[in-house]
Amino acid sequence: MKSLIDICDLSREEIDSLLDTANDIIAHPEVYSEKCRGKKLATLFFEPSTRTRLSFEAAMYELGGNVLGFSEAQSSSASKGESVADTARVVSCYADIIAMRHPKEGAPLVASMHASVPIINAGDGGHNHPTQTLADLLTIKREKGGFDGLTLGFCGDLKFGRTVHSLIAAMSRYKDIRVVLISPQELKLPSYVKRDILQKNGIPYTQTTDFESVIDSLDILYMTRVQRERFFSEEEYLRLKDSYILTPEKLRRAKSDLCVMHPLPRVNEISTAIDNDPRACYFKQVLYGKYMRMALILMLLGVN
Ligand code: NCD
Repeated sequence: MKSLIDICDLSREEIDSLLDTANDIIAHPEVYSEKCRGKKLATLFFEPSTRTRLSFEAAMYELGGNVLGFSEAQSSSASKGESVADTARVVSCYADIIAMRHPKEGAPLVASMHASVPIINAGDGGHNHPTQTLADLLTIKREKGGFDGLTLGFCGDLKFGRTVHSLIAAMSRYKDIRVVLISPQELKLPSYVKRDILQKNGIPYTQTTDFESVIDSLDILYMTRVQRERFFSEEEYLRLKDSYILTPEKLRRAKSDLCVMHPLPRVNEISTAIDNDPRACYFKQVLYGKYMRMALILMLLGVN
C-alpha cells in the first residue's frame, strides 16, 4: 500500500503515468465514470480549504465512488484530544483512501504510519502540498509541452508557501531548469529547501527582492499569497502582505508566452485585470487539479 506524503514519493515514471492518465480522462471522461464504484474516499481537513477538498470530492464522484469526511477540526474528535494516529486508524475502518490536510507539518506522515489505507497529504502546515504540485505539473506540461529547460520564477511567500516547496522538489528532477526566487528578506525560501533540493540537484538559482529586474527572463511565474495564518505577529503580516502585486504594467516586460500560475486563493497578489490575459493560467490549474487527483486516486487504489 502506497501513500503520497512528499511529491518525491512518486518516481518520474509514476508522474509521467499520472499525467498520461489525466490527459486520457480529459479526452474520454466516460471511460472512467464507474472505475471507483463501491469505493470510499475520506477527506479529513483540519484546516480551511476550498479547491483541494472539493476537487478531491469531485474527483471521487466523477470516478463513481463515494465521499465522507469533515472540513474543520472542531467537528472531529481532534477537538476532544484524539491523536492523528488514532484518527487515521479509525477512519481506515470506514474508507478505502484518505486525503488529509493538517496545520502541523508531518501530520499526514504520522497518519500514514498508522492507517491501513493509503494517505494523501493534502497540505501539511508550511511544509508540503504534493497534490497541488500534480495540478501544477499538468498545467506546465499542457502549456509548455514539457519541463526541461524552463526558467521558473517563484514570487511572494516562499517561506511558508508549501506549494512552492513541493513544486521546486518536483521540477528539480528535470533537465536545465533555472529557479528565480523573488521575495522579501523575511519570506525567503527555507534554507533546508535550498540545500536539500536546489543545491543537491545542482539547480542554478538566484534570490532577489526586485521583481522588475527578473520578469523578462521567466517562462513560468508562480505567484503566491502571503500566508497570514502562519505568522506569529499580525503586524508583520500587514507590513509584508502587499510586497508584490502583479499588474498589467508589470507584465508588459514579460515574455509573450509566459505562464502565470497561482495555487489560489488569491488575495490581491494578482490584479484581476490580468485574468483575461492569455498568459493567466491559474484557473486552468484548478480544473487540471481535479483530473490529476482522479488519476492519483486510481493509482493509489490500484485500479486499472
Ligand atoms: C494553497 C495551500 O493550501 O497551500 N491552496 C491550495 O491548496 N490551492 C495555497 C494557499 O493557501 O495560499
